Amino acid sequence: MKSIKGHGGRPSLRRSVSSPSLTFILILTLTLLVLSLAPACPVSITTMPSVRSWALAALTLAQTVLGAPQPLAAAEPLEPRATGTVDSWLAAESPISINRILANIGSTGQYSLSAKSGIVIASPSTDNPNYYYTWSRDAALVLKTLVELFRNGETALQTPIMNYVNSQAYLQTVSNPSGSFSDGSGLGEPKFNVDETAFTGSWGRPQRDGPALRATALVDFGNWLLDNGYNSLAINAVWPVVRNDLSYVSQYWNQTGFDLWEEVSGSSFFTVAAQHRALVEGSAFAKRVGSSCSYCDSQAPQVLCFLQSFWTGSYINANFGGGRSGKDANTLLASIHIFDPEAGCDDSTFQPCSARALANHKVYTDSFRSIYTLNSGKAASAAVATGRYPEDSYYNGNPWFLTTLAAAEQLYDALYTWNKLGSLSVTSTSLPFFKALYSSAAVGTYASSTSTYASIVAAVKTYADGYVSIVETYAASNGSMAEQFDRNSGVQLSARDLTWSYAALLTAKLRRDALVPKPWGETSASSVPGVCSATSAIGTYSTAATTSWPASLTSGTPVNITATGTGTGTSPTSCTTPTTVSVTFNEIATTVYGESVYIVGSIAKLGNWATGSAVALSASKYTSSNNLWYVTIDLPAGTTFTYKYIRKQSSGSFVWESDPNRSYTVPSGCSVSTATESDTWR
Ligand SMILES: *[C@@H]1O[C@H](CO)[C@@H](O)[C@H](O)[C@H]1NC(C)=O
Ligand SMILES: *[C@@H]1O[C@H](CO)[C@@H](O)[C@H](O)[C@H]1NC(C)=O
Ligand SMILES: *[C@@H]1O[C@H](CO)[C@@H](O)[C@H](O)[C@H]1NC(C)=O
Ligand SMILES: *[C@@H]1O[C@H](CO)[C@@H](O)[C@H](O)[C@H]1NC(C)=O
Repeated sequence: MKSIKGHGGRPSLRRSVSSPSLTFILILTLTLLVLSLAPACPVSITTMPSVRSWALAALTLAQTVLGAPQPLAAAEPLEPRATGTVDSWLAAESPISINRILANIGSTGQYSLSAKSGIVIASPSTDNPNYYYTWSRDAALVLKTLVELFRNGETALQTPIMNYVNSQAYLQTVSNPSGSFSDGSGLGEPKFNVDETAFTGSWGRPQRDGPALRATALVDFGNWLLDNGYNSLAINAVWPVVRNDLSYVSQYWNQTGFDLWEEVSGSSFFTVAAQHRALVEGSAFAKRVGSSCSYCDSQAPQVLCFLQSFWTGSYINANFGGGRSGKDANTLLASIHIFDPEAGCDDSTFQPCSARALANHKVYTDSFRSIYTLNSGKAASAAVATGRYPEDSYYNGNPWFLTTLAAAEQLYDALYTWNKLGSLSVTSTSLPFFKALYSSAAVGTYASSTSTYASIVAAVKTYADGYVSIVETYAASNGSMAEQFDRNSGVQLSARDLTWSYAALLTAKLRRDALVPKPWGETSASSVPGVCSATSAIGTYSTAATTSWPASLTSGTPVNITATGTGTGTSPTSCTTPTTVSVTFNEIATTVYGESVYIVGSIAKLGNWATGSAVALSASKYTSSNNLWYVTIDLPAGTTFTYKYIRKQSSGSFVWESDPNRSYTVPSGCSVSTATESDTWR
């Protein structure tokens, strides 16, 4: 979060206390706010049934620690307390985290009683700093976590999730200083008042990650609804909200905005990575609900193209703009957000185990080794407390719980993927990362049967757990985690009970247990266009109706969907899924006179990779400004295949696109009879 923090592109409120008038207004406002807060009464958030044993384990503990809101303890140096094993601490801290998150969601959460239903507050702190607002980014990341837990059996989370969907359907339409709903511009507003009115103070705006993150959280839930037979809810309650967010991303991704810390105006790696993921999975979700997102399809490859430019050769530069080193938790948070368990260690999307992301992990974490007293004396192979970025001066610049947890989570993701692949690779790019943990590491690929693999994996696991141990050390003994902990003393600082801190704990715990998110389609969306273009596409903005949800959603049998389902009930309808889909392949390829473009691939319709049987594309729409080749081919619904474009030169010889092979899955949704795939020659 926060954003909150920094706030704002402008010197943060915290840092700008030298302005007397601002300080006065702030104090007045805060006083009024505090006066208006009714005494919070405990609500029944501790009663949710949980099917996860680790969540159950400490439910009793959680119930006992939820008292009335209290200020953080005075800032006296903490003696790091004796800690248990990472296993036992996480088992205890996980249910506490779920409960603290629920305490921060209106209108029944213990610390958020004045927030509207489904509104996620960033923190109960109303003073020094005041985080008693809802940020689109934080809320979406928290909901993404809740949806994942819900899918994993935390059925009691359905109510806050449903309330969130409704709250966002409304919030999208609220005009604000970033703009209005009609042209989508208002969706870039970073934060709102908890009563769902616009926050009109000056701020670092717009921030363009919120719609993308919200789309991702909602698509995960929408897919669950489809998988369990609640088609009309997916179509009528979820998709309209998602569509607005996808339209926003498609239209505005190539414009500057403020970063996730709300300080840098420019282009943020985190934002761009989140946008790419949202467009890819949003388009697939569109097909599942019988719609389509051509604007997602046209923009996603270009977003991925732009994403590549953040790679410096040795680490990821977090921002274009801002004039800093670019070493920033932004990049780790991006990598864990776009983790796809089927994507392998792909560099193009900076998967957690990619050589780029691992090299970046070392550069980022190393940047905090010497600047925080807490980290002094730690070996290069030991975990350290990490913060947002080394130049940070918010509250004098300190480690954060959520960034230290992100450092662990990335490594747990990597461990999962290596295990799945049955091997790990050390490249010249990632060698420094591995050498720090295993000094004899050398470039190569190590099968899981080798002792080198076993040694490296054990070292990485220990290293990852070390980050969690640090969080354990500085979390309160009742499990509370604020935003930051002091770089010298370890005392918790800034906003107490930061909602995002708890979500970060939960996702790290899930990954450590090898519970991974659903794939979002990385494997068919990782080919980087050869040429990047500054582009945009206009979607549609229309008000999403708020929905009456059933009291309880139970796992059910998937049924086929109707493309035009307009009812608001939950009874599924069926339809006929076409067996053949007319897929149009658009390929942007700059050709010279006498050249022509063909498509060839792994299925008979595409010539089984034989150039002699490749299918010719048409140049009838080719212009000097739009070098479009295209062809429409009827393909069996649901088929997955690999392919490439080839160009036939006037001599008759073929030139192939560069690797890797492209991959495509023909949609197989109800009433889906056409589809478009847009590619660019590489
Ligand atoms: C947790 O402990 C801290 C002190 O470390 C205290 O300020 C806070 O109120 C406690 N939180 C709860 C929910 O009891
Ligand atoms: C827009 O995209 C182009 C091509 O990737 C890139 O060079 C440019 O920096 C982008 N600008 C913004 C603000 O995203
Ligand atoms: C959904 O459609 C597929 C393809 O037409 C069919 O095989 C399947 O039985 C249908 N499922 C249901 C639940 O109707
Ligand atoms: C692309 O597919 C062809 C045919 O299956 C295969 O021979 C080739 O190795 C593939 N290329 C890559 C980079 O995977």
